[in-house]
Amino acid sequence: MDSTSLPAPPSLAPYSIAIIGAGSVGSNIASFLLLRRIAPTLLLIDTDHSLCRAQVLDLTDAAFLSNAHVRTATHAEAGQADIIIVTAGAKQRPGDTRLDLIGRNMKILRSVMDSMKPIKKDAVVLMVANPVDVLTVFAQSLSGLPKGQVLGSGTLLDSVRLRALVAEKAGVADTAVQVDVVGEHGDSQIVAWSSAHVGSTPLSYVLPLTEEEQASLAATARDKAYDIIKAKGFTSFGVAAVVSCVCQAILGDEKVVIPISHWIDELGCCLCVPAVVGREGVVRTVWPGLSDREKEGVEASAKALVEVVENCEK
Ligand code: 2OP
Repeated sequence: MDSTSLPAPPSLAPYSIAIIGAGSVGSNIASFLLLRRIAPTLLLIDTDHSLCRAQVLDLTDAAFLSNAHVRTATHAEAGQADIIIVTAGAKQRPGDTRLDLIGRNMKILRSVMDSMKPIKKDAVVLMVANPVDVLTVFAQSLSGLPKGQVLGSGTLLDSVRLRALVAEKAGVADTAVQVDVVGEHGDSQIVAWSSAHVGSTPLSYVLPLTEEEQASLAATARDKAYDIIKAKGFTSFGVAAVVSCVCQAILGDEKVVIPISHWIDELGCCLCVPAVVGREGVVRTVWPGLSDREKEGVEASAKALVEVVENCEK
């Protein structure tokens, strides 16, 4: 192919992103980051060196569409990246909840964090492995970084899933629907229906939904990962797309407001709640308006996660 016929990719700020775990999630994240030109240097790390090398070789075949460079790296090199994405961990088997993975993935997280040290002082760690909210709590303490610099990609993905369902029903673009899924990136998540909008109009004016309809849409979005896992064994494209947006928000210091797993003082754990995200990670939490019932749901979600964290500490 004549590369001179391709438009020149825009130049990129000199950032590097490390992706720990070169399986289906990690490699798809690398591919989205590469093709969306989020950073000029991508590092892929996996304890399975042969898989990691093969993923890098395959990705370099797509690099002609980008001006990014992708290579294998050590954990120590990953610790010096601007963003460190942790996907390494056991996958959900069909029927497993995300919380079922905690025992296996805690061990992996400890070893990954140890082998990256010392971690660059202004790096942002983005947890992706599940259960993401619980692992984010431990990544905060294990990394030694300020809590705001350690976040988890969580219910932004559930929100995107839900927005697409609502948009289809309302006959509008997905991007016109503003509704957030909050709480655990898992079974106890809650939809902030009371603050949902289409454009600047409350959703209830544009698309009045009965409680049953809300519950059905929420369940379809919540259970979508189970449906995908049952049929193909893992999810990868959605999470990769969402992670590429979070990385863009961080490196571009965009200050977008997105649901992201981060430390919430008043709840004593990491939970997915909208927050301002920029170069230093989470800048501050922006609570959506919640009804009393939704607030209770978020508190119950937090309580369930705190119990899992406490059990891990024992
Ligand atoms: C997802 O929601 C499994 O957490 C992963 O796609």
